[in-house]
Amino acid sequence: MSPENQPDGGAPTDSLTVTDNRTGQTFELPITDGTVRAMDFRQMKADADDFGLMTYDPAFTNTASCRSAVTFIDGDAGVLEYRGYPIEQLAEKSTYLEVAYLLVYGELPTQPELDEWTHHVTMHTFVHENVKEFVGGFRHDAHPMGMLLGSVGALSTFYPDANEISDPENRLIQAVRLIAKMPTLAAFAFRHTRGQPLVYPDNDLRYPGNFLGMLYKMTELKYEPDPRLERALDILFILHADHEQNCSTNAVRAVGSSQVDPYSAVAAGIGALYGPLHGGANEAVLRMLRRVGTKEDIPAFMKGVKEGDERLMGFGHRVYKNYDPRAKIIKGATEDVFAVTGKNPLLEIATEMEKIALEDEYFVSRKLYPNVDFYSGLIYEALGLPVEMFPVMFAIPRTSGWISQWLEMVVDKEQKIARPRQIYTGARSRDYTEIASR
Ligand code: CMC
Repeated sequence: MSPENQPDGGAPTDSLTVTDNRTGQTFELPITDGTVRAMDFRQMKADADDFGLMTYDPAFTNTASCRSAVTFIDGDAGVLEYRGYPIEQLAEKSTYLEVAYLLVYGELPTQPELDEWTHHVTMHTFVHENVKEFVGGFRHDAHPMGMLLGSVGALSTFYPDANEISDPENRLIQAVRLIAKMPTLAAFAFRHTRGQPLVYPDNDLRYPGNFLGMLYKMTELKYEPDPRLERALDILFILHADHEQNCSTNAVRAVGSSQVDPYSAVAAGIGALYGPLHGGANEAVLRMLRRVGTKEDIPAFMKGVKEGDERLMGFGHRVYKNYDPRAKIIKGATEDVFAVTGKNPLLEIATEMEKIALEDEYFVSRKLYPNVDFYSGLIYEALGLPVEMFPVMFAIPRTSGWISQWLEMVVDKEQKIARPRQIYTGARSRDYTEIASR
């Protein structure tokens, strides 16, 4: 706040002076961390009977719902950091399991800590045999994300002690289980849709390689993942691990705030991630690229986007008003994957679309840049995955972010059950009309 904005022209203070013009009363609200507390407005009443002023923010576009030390994003500068470490360095030097440790514990592990963590996660990759039976109960054409949603929710019935959320050790066990079992459930869903036998985890393989094995192993005695594909998958997992208070994380926190077990809370997160405006966007991107089909058809498609008939999926972001740093890294990783699998012809269309969009006034003025989903789908497709698996590929690594945010929320003294207010717009105090008289 500049001095001239101060009521008395004096030195700046970390407060906001508000005059309620309905009453002429002036209030001074503290500003902490660039934020005023919505509850501080409640004291502003039009008269003694008034409930007090509320803030209205239907999509949380300008509301901080928590204090968090997990992930930092500067959307204008295109910066993403997990626990203070830039995503670019983690993608280059780390592994997904190490990043999951970082997210959960807040620090990078020492070698013995990483070994122990890796051992724990690896030892929890198996699921109860009954899980296979209910996976088998889904229709052959069931969407794998719906199957994942259902089976993660069902895990709470296998671990009823998971509702002891006030026990720190118990919370960590569930965190490990969730991170460990997610690839197994995801692969089960995939194999089921293919009518292929389910493949058990191979504890000799690393986290991404084991997942590839559960997806693709056929008659070979030992599945050996291509190290380049395994590394590309590991990078994709790192990039998707957390993204502060996005729609699904908010769902995990909101549902978790009722003190339900973490499986149920994470199932809520999977539900949120399923939607096409969130984790379903990578699926929508691929469908869009296929529909456009050729470079020649791009201008007509872009015209439709600008006229509001279409949406350029994989573009735009609530927080990033710059190139999504994850999209840059993924674009680089496409080269490595295509070196193994052959080039995905849709890459040319995607690259051309990006080029056109980045020079077009419509996208430039709205600060619409490629987001994480614009290129990730091309890699998933090159890995042999159908589009329905794409949101599942997002959910696997995001589990470490969800659970880290949940662990943080559970011990946050300021958190209570999430319960927003509303502005009621309906009828009031009507007398019931008998059905014959309506
Ligand atoms: N294509 C065309 N126009 C767009 C797009 C797009 N992809 N995204 C935003 N706009 C326009 C929008 O129509 C609006 O224009 P106007 O001001 O003329 O009404 C303006 O840009 C602002 O958009 P908004 O819808 O108010 O922005 P938002 O913050 O509510 O939405 C978004 C963010 C990601 C939902 C949106 O950009 C979108 O729908 N993108 C496509 C879906 C997508 O790629 N989602 C993945 C997000 S990244 C992965 C994740 O974390 O989930």
